[in-house]
Amino acid sequence: MPVKVLMVCLGNICRSPLAEGILASKLPADKFIVDSAGTGSWHVGHCPDKRSIDVARKNGINISAQKGRQIKPADFDEFDYIYVMDGSNFRDVVHLAKTPEHKNKVKMILNELFPDENVDVPDPYYGAVNGFDNVYQMLDEVTDLIADQLLKKHS
Ligand code: 4NP
Repeated sequence: MPVKVLMVCLGNICRSPLAEGILASKLPADKFIVDSAGTGSWHVGHCPDKRSIDVARKNGINISAQKGRQIKPADFDEFDYIYVMDGSNFRDVVHLAKTPEHKNKVKMILNELFPDENVDVPDPYYGAVNGFDNVYQMLDEVTDLIADQLLKKHS
């Protein structure tokens, strides 16, 4: 059974599609499934934001085939790890979790780099273009660490 990792942000068009694509590029696809979802429903069925597609492409990763979806209760059973991008996502996702075991799966992604500091991956949606480069760099760095941890734990 592959290990399953879910990346979550608000819209599922900017940050979590990048997190999905970057982490998936660092793990063998036969052993790990990486997916993403939003807490909101505005972008269900939509492609990632063009600015996320572009920054990923610039770094050799194609996220253009992803489609937005909203997190659902079954995700807490289905996924082994759930990483959220910011504190607001954390509150929303933990609120949806029905059991302590499900709540324990939910982690702020940058806490892997900065334990217990609850640093947000800033939402680049309304910001400047370089916000997307900034988000890419953060996610690239933290997913190096997450990929190492997953490979050590599950190989
Ligand atoms: P994301 O960014 O959570 O990184 O996908 C957002 C994208 C869209 C919206 C909010 C955040 N929106 O309100 O439509």
